Amino acid sequence: MNKDTIRVAFFDAKPYDLTSFAPLEQTTPLRFKFFDTRLTPDTAGLAAGCDAVCVFVNDTVNAEVIDALCRMGIRLIVLRCAGYNNVDLQAAYGRIHVAHVPAYSPNAVAEHAMAMLLTSVRRIHKAYNRTREFNFALKDLVGFNLHGKTVGVIGTGRIGRAFIDICRGFGMKILAYDKFPAEIPDVEYVDTDRLFAESDVISLHCPLTEESRHMIGKDAIEKMKKGVVIVNTSRGGLIDAEALLAGIKSRKVGAACLDVYEEESDIFFEDNSGHILDDDVLARLISMPNVILTSHQGFLTSDALAAIAEATAGNILAYFGDRPIPNELCYRCGNLENCKKKKNEKCF
Ligand code: NAI
Repeated sequence: MNKDTIRVAFFDAKPYDLTSFAPLEQTTPLRFKFFDTRLTPDTAGLAAGCDAVCVFVNDTVNAEVIDALCRMGIRLIVLRCAGYNNVDLQAAYGRIHVAHVPAYSPNAVAEHAMAMLLTSVRRIHKAYNRTREFNFALKDLVGFNLHGKTVGVIGTGRIGRAFIDICRGFGMKILAYDKFPAEIPDVEYVDTDRLFAESDVISLHCPLTEESRHMIGKDAIEKMKKGVVIVNTSRGGLIDAEALLAGIKSRKVGAACLDVYEEESDIFFEDNSGHILDDDVLARLISMPNVILTSHQGFLTSDALAAIAEATAGNILAYFGDRPIPNELCYRCGNLENCKKKKNEKCF
């Protein structure tokens, strides 16, 4: 299957994507067709004539899109991100290979989580705005030390562990919950009830699945300490946003640091400043003085973007070079007992 030129339909392309991906055309057979638009059933036809498609977190890769891509003879979808909850892996199985970038820079996301947490607990977002107007008053800027506080980390994979390392450096006590606990120095695994009850800060680093959807909802928030700070750099759907808003209004939740939002797909990554925001829950959250919201930018460092481009190219070149795809995904891989893949093989 070795090809002289590999044409890749690149959906939802942003200027920073061009900076990191276009140079690959000089050193590899990859040739990109960059589209501003997202991949949806309506736009899938743009990929006609291409050999592969490259997508991001908010592209729609459902059964309808997969059918359309297969009809065009496309046999590879590469995600330039880690999360893949937007892909119907079951519909893809046996028909079109899917690969992602599992670990481009766990530190980028973990550092963003800590940046948001520090901004919140030291009120940097307020102080920054004040001093720009020469307002040097300290009123309402009292924060609290992280040293000696308890952080509850949900999901202790690559990003969760990088975040734990940072928290350890801050002298925090670390509790954790994971479906598959590991041995991590200075970390005590507990059930979610104890994590909710004892944590001053709760940071989410597990994937979004049917099981984890709305794991932070009304019941969970009721079990938390008054004044808890909730940090979510993972996926918006982990939190029931209406329950979070209620928790903030009742003063139970002390602050929220959100890099992701359940209904972000039609809002994030775009300049909506000239529009009226239809999402009342999001608008109300943003209006809160103790909510910090960033637009899914945890991954956005030059180091991570370079690693993403390199790993994505590696996945494409492996497939078209008839080699096993390093980061192939299939719905069976998510259920390790049933994954038939042996080391150095494709999933099907
Ligand atoms: P990972 O796969 O290394 O770790 C995930 C951990 O969560 C694993 O230890 C797993 O056992 C655990 N887990 C799975 N289901 C769970 C559940 N129901 N409850 C508790 N733990 C559970 O993933 P990684 O690389 O650490 O990424 C974590 C998440 O971060 C991704 O799923 C993605 O959604 C998000 N992410 C966000 C980015 C951003 O820019 N904000 C960028 C990259 C990833």
